[in-house]
Amino acid sequence: MSKKHVLKVELGERSYDIIVQPSISRDAEFYLKPFISGRKCLIVTDHTVNDIYGHKTAKTLSGSGAKVSSVVFKAGETSKNLDTIREFYQKAVNEELDRSSLVVALGGGVCGDMAGFMAATYMRGIDFIQIPTSLLAMVDSSVGGKTGVDLPEGKNLVGAFWQPVLVLIDPELLETLPANELRCGLAEIIKYAVILDAELFELLENNIEKLKKLDLDFYSGIISRCCRLKAEVVSKDEREGGLRAILNYGHTFGHAIEAVSGYNSILHGEAIAVGMAIAADLAVKLGTFDKTSADRQEKLMKALELPVTLKNYDAEKILEAMGNDKKKQDGKIKLILPEKIGSVSISPCADRKLMLEVIRNRCS
Ligand SMILES: NC(=O)c1ccc[n+]([C@@H]2O[C@H](COP(=O)([O-])OP(=O)(O)OC[C@H]3O[C@@H](n4cnc5c(N)ncnc54)[C@H](O)[C@@H]3O)[C@@H](O)[C@H]2O)c1
Ligand SMILES: [Zn+2]
Repeated sequence: MSKKHVLKVELGERSYDIIVQPSISRDAEFYLKPFISGRKCLIVTDHTVNDIYGHKTAKTLSGSGAKVSSVVFKAGETSKNLDTIREFYQKAVNEELDRSSLVVALGGGVCGDMAGFMAATYMRGIDFIQIPTSLLAMVDSSVGGKTGVDLPEGKNLVGAFWQPVLVLIDPELLETLPANELRCGLAEIIKYAVILDAELFELLENNIEKLKKLDLDFYSGIISRCCRLKAEVVSKDEREGGLRAILNYGHTFGHAIEAVSGYNSILHGEAIAVGMAIAADLAVKLGTFDKTSADRQEKLMKALELPVTLKNYDAEKILEAMGNDKKKQDGKIKLILPEKIGSVSISPCADRKLMLEVIRNRCS
């Protein structure tokens, strides 16, 4: 029998549970019933996930006493916009969803962000449940209540903080996730280890085979550990007044790399892996992180087949794109730099020449 992990995100009256359990479907009705029995439920999912898990999920929700309908969108970031949200609203109106109804996000981060935003805004806010299906969504986007969509001008420019009422994570769903998407989730897991948890970092280093072979019990432990780390950060700083910014380790460089690539030639997790390598190089140059730790980070990323360098990128363009990142404060770019494995600091941007040098070393 696989082990079950139950965690709580402490946010006063908006607190909620995260359940991590392989083959959760056997118990899912038990968890879901208190939230959905007698209510209308709209499943939001993409075509890929719907083909694999849509029918089964609808059956589980019906079995828990809900009246179920679904809205399905084309998989991928290009769907994450207001046009798709409008389709969700239309479906909700057609199905006569009201303030007591509920949205279920079944999918990766794109799905969770959009379903959450729809739930935050439909009838001024209705409940929603996260059933993440990608590793990235399991360890990151399904927890914490950031929801939203992209505008042509940039990613996640429209959104709301809206917490789910429950997060149900079944690591078994990872068995159908493409390998490159799995690697992207692993990059986020390394991020948590470097910023907050040296023990987790060691656990990853010592269990490369289990990670590569998708050992589900091992993944359950790792996923719940990352959710606990994120839950702690979010409980202390729900709206990113300070601490929550550390979750952006590797992301200031990574987002800029994604922007320069036009969001189509590199996956998010790959970009942040390179971003973390650059941030570590910079910290080594500044004398705040030792080279041995930077090498450990690089070795772990390589062992998990994540990129640590890129070819043919223009360092000037990456630096310029960093200036457009919405995480700026008072016009200054904030950098999350490692101090040692398991601890980071938030620093203002280093000098331009040094920044260019570290980016160029990894990206050209
Ligand atoms: N809200 C937050 O705090 C937060 C945090 C990090 C990222 N995000 C957002 O998350 C998004 C990225 O999420 P993602 O990487 O999960 O992308 P995604 O939702 O597009 O999923 C990646 C791909 O995997 C497929 N897929 C998902 N689960 C599957 C499964 N079990 N089996 C087979 N295929 C499966 C999807 O159909 C899709 O094609 C971005 O839009 C990003 O902005 C949000
Ligand atoms: Zn990320």
